[in-house]
Amino acid sequence: MKTAEIANRYLDYFRSKDHTIVPSASLVSDDPSIMFTIAGMVPFIPYLTGVVPAPYKSVADLQKCIRTNDIEEVGQTARHGTFFQMMGNWSFGDYFKKEAIGYAWELLTSSESDGGLGFAEKDLWVTVYEDDDEAEQLWRSIAGLPANRIQRLGREDNYWTTGQPGPAGPSSEIYVDRGPAYGKDGGPAVDDNRFLEIWNLVFMQYAIDNVRSKTEFDIVGELPQKNIDTGLGLERVAFLKQGVENMYETDQVRPVLDRAVELSGRRYGVDHADDVRFRVIADHVRSSLMLLSDGVTPSNEGRGYILRRLMRRTVRSMRLLGVEEATFPELFAASREAMSTGYPEIDTDWQRISNYAFAEEETFLRTLASGSTILDTAVTKAKEAGTAKLGGDQAFLLHDTYGFPIDLTLEIAEEAGIGVDRDGFDDLMRSQRERAKENARSRKTQIADLSVYREYRAAGETRFLGYDELVAESRVLGLIVDGAPVERASAGQTAEVILPETTLYAESGGQVADRGTIVGAGFELDVIDVQRPVAGLVSHTVTVHSGEVAVGDAATTVVDENNRRRAQAAHSATHLVHAALRDTLGSAATQTGSLNRAGYLRIDFSWGQSLSNATKTEIEEIANSAVSDNLEVTTRVMSLDDAKAAGATALFGEKYGAEVRMVDIGGPWSRELCGGTHVGRSSEIGLISLTSEASVGASNRRVEALVGQDALRELTAERALVAELSGQLKAPKDQLAARIAELSANLKRAEKKIAAFEAQSLSQRVPALVSGAAPAGRVQLVAASVGEVGSADDVRALVTQVRERLAAQAAVVALVGVVGSRPVVVIATTEAARQAGAQAGALVKTATGVLGGGGGGKPDLAQGGGQDATRVDAALDAVRAAVLAL
Ligand code: ALA
Repeated sequence: MKTAEIANRYLDYFRSKDHTIVPSASLVSDDPSIMFTIAGMVPFIPYLTGVVPAPYKSVADLQKCIRTNDIEEVGQTARHGTFFQMMGNWSFGDYFKKEAIGYAWELLTSSESDGGLGFAEKDLWVTVYEDDDEAEQLWRSIAGLPANRIQRLGREDNYWTTGQPGPAGPSSEIYVDRGPAYGKDGGPAVDDNRFLEIWNLVFMQYAIDNVRSKTEFDIVGELPQKNIDTGLGLERVAFLKQGVENMYETDQVRPVLDRAVELSGRRYGVDHADDVRFRVIADHVRSSLMLLSDGVTPSNEGRGYILRRLMRRTVRSMRLLGVEEATFPELFAASREAMSTGYPEIDTDWQRISNYAFAEEETFLRTLASGSTILDTAVTKAKEAGTAKLGGDQAFLLHDTYGFPIDLTLEIAEEAGIGVDRDGFDDLMRSQRERAKENARSRKTQIADLSVYREYRAAGETRFLGYDELVAESRVLGLIVDGAPVERASAGQTAEVILPETTLYAESGGQVADRGTIVGAGFELDVIDVQRPVAGLVSHTVTVHSGEVAVGDAATTVVDENNRRRAQAAHSATHLVHAALRDTLGSAATQTGSLNRAGYLRIDFSWGQSLSNATKTEIEEIANSAVSDNLEVTTRVMSLDDAKAAGATALFGEKYGAEVRMVDIGGPWSRELCGGTHVGRSSEIGLISLTSEASVGASNRRVEALVGQDALRELTAERALVAELSGQLKAPKDQLAARIAELSANLKRAEKKIAAFEAQSLSQRVPALVSGAAPAGRVQLVAASVGEVGSADDVRALVTQVRERLAAQAAVVALVGVVGSRPVVVIATTEAARQAGAQAGALVKTATGVLGGGGGGKPDLAQGGGQDATRVDAALDAVRAAVLAL
């Protein structure tokens, strides 16, 4: 049974049980405290906690998930995948344990010909939470399971949490016995390889807080409703049903493994270490493909870092299989073929996805090459220093800064015959992990805090009236100070204000929050920020400017009109620049981020190279001609499918509900899904002036522009600057560039001439210095101060010229010049002087000892510097004394 068919059977079954079937949410979680969708329940957290009323009673879906905490297990066991798909059915306060158990049992054990999954009843085992008598009873009565195939386990196994404050509950897991060939008898409590967990039924009815570990947390209350959350692992069911040994050999994953086998010329199933590498590759390539497809791009932090790590581990595994060339074009293509039936966006978006993937591989291959050089140098140094080990700090630096994997460092060091201070490295890694955990912990408090919004959200969505009006009357529904609801707030306090409707725009889609005020009888509130802390609810952060505001007061929201007009002009301008980018560069240049505020816009887009001046001008011209064409801006609310069919551009990282708002500028020319506010006609934008274009990370560029009056002001300032230059250089503006080029060429010529003159005047000093040579012990000595010179090179040139003239004798030439305010000493010796024992290097050390500095060189020529220019004579005396003593 193909993987896709298993999923279809699951969804069909729950459709027949009146479940609404919803599409998978993105791998990128909406929740700021959860990096990825790690389980099917993540997108439903607001419904499970009751913070947002669930729009349906019962739902089923197939959800994409990413978990990387067990990354080291990948390939070692049959069942650990970083990307996997979880089939799930949910009840939000509807059915509970009895039905959940009944459904699961029926679907698993119905025969394949009846549309079921056809598992043999005798192979199924279950676990229940240690004190859950009810669940055990239900398994016995509904499924007829004998007592010995129901086991009780503790929090470690049978209590589901997301690892943070939020919804949780006892669970019951269903296992399949794979047979004695896979391990000991005795059920899941004894062997979790032979007894493979496939389905987890969570009876989610509690809220937890103060999470200290997987098993240590406080149950702080009941959720407003009893929920069901289940997860049936698609990959696990697939490998059982397909009669293969593990998830890497299923129809969706195996093709990548096979391609890796072909590329490496090695065989699968012969050597354990190689097999693990093949499986790691198959798993990581698919995970990377799916992450890229959901808009994650490689970077050095957060989600981007996880993606980067997956791709680097893939490259690393290919190298260990003996392949050093780029292989992503082959491997990703194989994964695309296996996955795009279920996820057609991989095909539509292939150009963007593959650009990122291939560029990342190339960068990493280069990193490996340069990392090897850095490592080689470090190894050589360690050898020179006589240490048998490479420092843990160096290994960590290579890992942390250059992304150089530790196992590679170990290997290369070993080849070079030295060890690595592994303990030192591990210590540094540990403290880095601790820091990361601290960070994560301090970010996690947000989930629990959201419960303060539950009651307000239950009253319905905040209606946004600001598309049509700037002022509207409303009423204070709630006030929050320091995270807790209050009845009133008075002058000087900062508070969050909740209203049933508002004209103030909450920050989203790149557009900043409106500025404005909220006023009522006896109070005035300055709006500092407007956000949507939970879906559908707007919170206004205000400072109470005067008076006192209380819950229930009539309140009027007033938008700062000028600021809004300019912010929305910038937002519409962003759509025009986006359309112009796609027009010029092609549809792969998709927006990956944006910011619009009064007078300014910024748009990030996927693109690998810098744009030529001609391209930038073209983009600017296309966008500005759309402005002057006075195009009509229209908005329509429709279903997501209709909007997609109409060719609207959806943006990565943005979440769209079933209903979306489509913004057209000039009909289909610019057509985007967007909740922002916009101008009525494009000419209201006035002017767009691109001010910069630069790279933000690999394969991502950023364009910045000024809009409207701000653009004009910038251009006016530039015009004034040009006028000033033109006056100073006495050239009309069309000749300015040529004039400046001419001036700088003249300057270069003049500098050359000066240098030649200086050299000549230096040479003129040579005869006097030569004649100053006087016997000192066994040699002739020239020891003189030459005063201020342009550079140390001048002193050097003089010294060598003087020595040349004295070459036939035993002579030492010691000259001190002053460069800036610092003394520079250069000493040269002739062959005969060296035979007499004179060493330029040692003499320079003598001089710099007096000058307060350091230096050195060879016996024939050495140079040094110092701090104290008043000690030049003393330094020369010291040199003379040293020469006399030879
Ligand atoms: N939330 C449960 C899990 O992921 C179903 O295992």
